[in-house]
Amino acid sequence: MANRMAKELLRLTNVSKVYRMDGITFTALHDISLTVTEGEFVAITGPSGSGKSTLMHLIGCLDHPTTGTIFLEGTDISRAGTTTLARLRNVHIGFVFQQFHLLRRTTSVANVELPLIYRTMSSRERRRRAIEALGEVGLGDKLHNFPSQLSGGQQQRVAIARALVTDPKILLADEPTGNLDSKSGHDILGMFQNLHKAGRTVILVTHDQNVAAIARRQIKISDGTIVSDTTRKQP
Ligand SMILES: Nc1ncnc2c1ncn2[C@@H]1O[C@H](COP(=O)(O)OP(=O)(O)O)[C@@H](O)[C@H]1O
Ligand SMILES: [Mg+2]
Repeated sequence: MANRMAKELLRLTNVSKVYRMDGITFTALHDISLTVTEGEFVAITGPSGSGKSTLMHLIGCLDHPTTGTIFLEGTDISRAGTTTLARLRNVHIGFVFQQFHLLRRTTSVANVELPLIYRTMSSRERRRRAIEALGEVGLGDKLHNFPSQLSGGQQQRVAIARALVTDPKILLADEPTGNLDSKSGHDILGMFQNLHKAGRTVILVTHDQNVAAIARRQIKISDGTIVSDTTRKQP
């Protein structure tokens, strides 16, 4: 639902990221400013090497900007320490990666429980929430399967359940269909669309224009700079 008074979740102001290696510096992001409000579905697109993952790491509290400020739900995270970043990440962000990043010797339900380990919550409650999240992604019958006993699309659904189990403000996905066949990829994108319709804020990072097309708002980056930021009119 469109909501004119929607709350601002994320604000980046003049953000840059410079990587330093062996005395060589490389500016991966340059002067990025953007805001994301609650309930938006945003695709961040651009060619390989344009800085998409770097931007996702900053938004996801995995790294610091070199200059500029980032506010996440009103908290300045630009200079937050490692422990604070880890806590903010666990509370606010649900990640979905191209490579799924599931623990291989761990069942679906145990994988999904992992982000709840840091919460004060009984193991019974953790299990209940993990089972509920797996049910939401249609895997209620695969609770005790190991990743190797699941298809790629199913593994990515476990990863989505793991991202959702903490009820995060922002769902951040980096090339979530990059390792999937077109049918599974289509299913996963449908799942993001449904999550958006249910009110989730989704930020989807992809080099694939067809994938990006499902989001209403498209932010294009090239060589670390935003070159366009457009929102499609509601049909
Ligand atoms: N840790 C790093 N150290 C040095 N350079 C990096 C590092 N991570 C990314 N880069 C460089 O920053 C640029 C952007 O990378 P990345 O954000 O991964 O792009 P994308 O996700 O759009 O493919 C690339 O030129 C890449 O080589
Ligand atoms: Mg990338």
